[in-house]
Amino acid sequence: MVHTFRAGHDQGPVDGLRLARASQAPARHPPRRARAIDTARSIAVTSGKGGVGKTQLSANLAISLARRGQSVLLLDADLGLASLDLALGVHPGHDLLAVVRGQRRLHEIIVEAAEGVHLVPACPGRYDMADLPNDEREQLHAALRELAAEYDCVIIDTGAGIGANTVGFAALGSEILLVTTAEPTSLRDAYAMAKVLHKRAGVDAIRVIANQVSCEAAGLEVYERLSGIACRFLSIELDYLGCVPWDAAVPRAVTQGRPYVVSAPHSKASRALETVVNKLITHGVSSGVVC
Ligand SMILES: Nc1ncnc2c1ncn2[C@@H]1O[C@H](COP(=O)(O)OP(=O)(O)O)[C@@H](O)[C@H]1O
Ligand SMILES: [Mg+2]
Repeated sequence: MVHTFRAGHDQGPVDGLRLARASQAPARHPPRRARAIDTARSIAVTSGKGGVGKTQLSANLAISLARRGQSVLLLDADLGLASLDLALGVHPGHDLLAVVRGQRRLHEIIVEAAEGVHLVPACPGRYDMADLPNDEREQLHAALRELAAEYDCVIIDTGAGIGANTVGFAALGSEILLVTTAEPTSLRDAYAMAKVLHKRAGVDAIRVIANQVSCEAAGLEVYERLSGIACRFLSIELDYLGCVPWDAAVPRAVTQGRPYVVSAPHSKASRALETVVNKLITHGVSSGVVC
């Protein structure tokens, strides 16, 4: 049983009231879909709340796709708070700060991780990177679109929150994986992220991954709650990509600086991750159904 996100008490229905009022005003055109990377399969992993497991999912997804023969570029888009380098146990010589300062080109900062995954590393602890001006972010997006053409798949690990950096990098993915746990705050913030992506970036195809859940049924319940609210108040239907259970193998892998599909391939988390990847491969791009 997931105690969370009750109608009438949380952000969704409150926004729903505002939306109901807004719907009496003259209809406005929905925003045009922000331009995603379209030369490679581009998957943005995002959330509203931090600490839900985006970086772990991104790193393990990248390794799993690479093992299946895909050439994978992994972008650390948590610009001011790098973490993928630690998750993958690599030591970048330069990072995105050097690119933004014009000292390095994007391809010059790439670090190779396990299974040949290419990482574009972010910078640890840089406020100016966390709050990148629009024109610099646009330049970075343009460079990424160009680099993406060299890969089968690009995975974008965004920061948390609904700020311009996070939303901008999330919308760069042609597919968006929205990560949430069963916690009320995580669910509410996931809804907030779905709303901003839909209303600001014209995104209507979003897939949910429930992470750190107790069992498959709990994962499905998390999805149903989030999807119910999104359908009611945003008129978009979220897809369910699956869940990864809470598993002690994950924090152990984090401590070792190795993705769990490498350090604990038979763990519950790794097996669940493989199921998610199978679904990602079999089901292709989400359709973005309107409720
Ligand atoms: N499936 C899981 N089971 C147990 N712990 C997890 C799981 N996924 C993530 N974690 C823990 O949550 C922490 C935060 O994960 P992280 O991927 O860094 O979150 P985010 O990128 O969303 O901020 C990790 O350090 C890890 O210990
Ligand atoms: Mg992260």
